[in-house]
Amino acid sequence: MSKKIIIGNWKMNPSSQREALDLFKLTIKAIPNKLKTDVVICPPFIYLESLSRFLKTKRKASLGAQNVSWEEKGAFTGEISMEMLKDVGVKYVILGHSERRAMGENNIDINKKIKMTLSFGITPVLCIGELKRDENHEYLSFVKKQIEECLAGIVKSSISKIIIAYEPVWAVGKGSIREANPEEFHEMRIFIKKVLSDKFGAKMVEKVKILYGGSLHIDDIPQFLKEDADGFLVGRNSLDVKKFSEIINITENSL
Ligand code: PGA
Repeated sequence: MSKKIIIGNWKMNPSSQREALDLFKLTIKAIPNKLKTDVVICPPFIYLESLSRFLKTKRKASLGAQNVSWEEKGAFTGEISMEMLKDVGVKYVILGHSERRAMGENNIDINKKIKMTLSFGITPVLCIGELKRDENHEYLSFVKKQIEECLAGIVKSSISKIIIAYEPVWAVGKGSIREANPEEFHEMRIFIKKVLSDKFGAKMVEKVKILYGGSLHIDDIPQFLKEDADGFLVGRNSLDVKKFSEIINITENSL
C-alpha cells in the first residue's frame, strides 16, 4: 500500500506571525511520532521562514507553498520564485487550486509552474476538478482537458513525482454544495488514472498519488481510503488543530 499524505492548505490565514507560529506549534505537537503518513502544511508565503526554523528541530511534517512563479528570477513584481521557496525548506507546492483559477490562473500558467517546480526537485500538488456536474458527463472532458493541458510536455519519468488532488469546485470551501462522496471520488480516480495512463503509460502512472479535497467529512475518511484515496488536501479543517489531528489519526489508523 502506498504511503498516504495529508496536506493542510491554510489559504490566507491566520492574520499574524504570532498566530501562525502558535497554530503550527500546536499542529506539530498533535502529530504522533513515527507516523507512516506524510503531513504537509502550506501556510502563506510570509510565514514559511519562521515555521521552517521551528520545524528544523521537529521534523514531524514538511512545508509546502500555495503558489510559485513560473519565472526563475528578475523583474516580476510581487512574485515568489522556486529558488526562494526551496531556500526556506519548501518541499511541495500546491498548483492550480480552484481559488487561484478563479483569480485568472489557467492551465497554461499552471503547466509552466509545474515545470519550474519539478526542475527544482520539489513536488507539485496539481489541483483539478470540475465546476459542476452535468448529466451529459461533460465534466469528464473538462477534467481531461485540465490534466492534458497542465501536464503538456512533462516527460514520462516525471509523472510519478507529481501529486494530483481531485477537488471538485462545487465541494471546495465554505460556500460549497457538499462533499463529493467516496464513490464519486473512486469513479473520478479511475478516470484520472486512465487519462494519465493514455498519456504516460500505465506503468509510469501506477505510483501517482490521487488525493481528495473539498469539505472532507471526518466520518467518511475510512471509506475514501477504501476507495483508494492516497490522502487528502484539507482547507478549513487544517486551521483547527483538533480536527486536523483527527484526520491524520484516522488516516494513520486505517492503514
Ligand atoms: P475545504 O478546502 O477543505 O475548506 O473545503 C479544500 C481546499 O481548498 O483544498
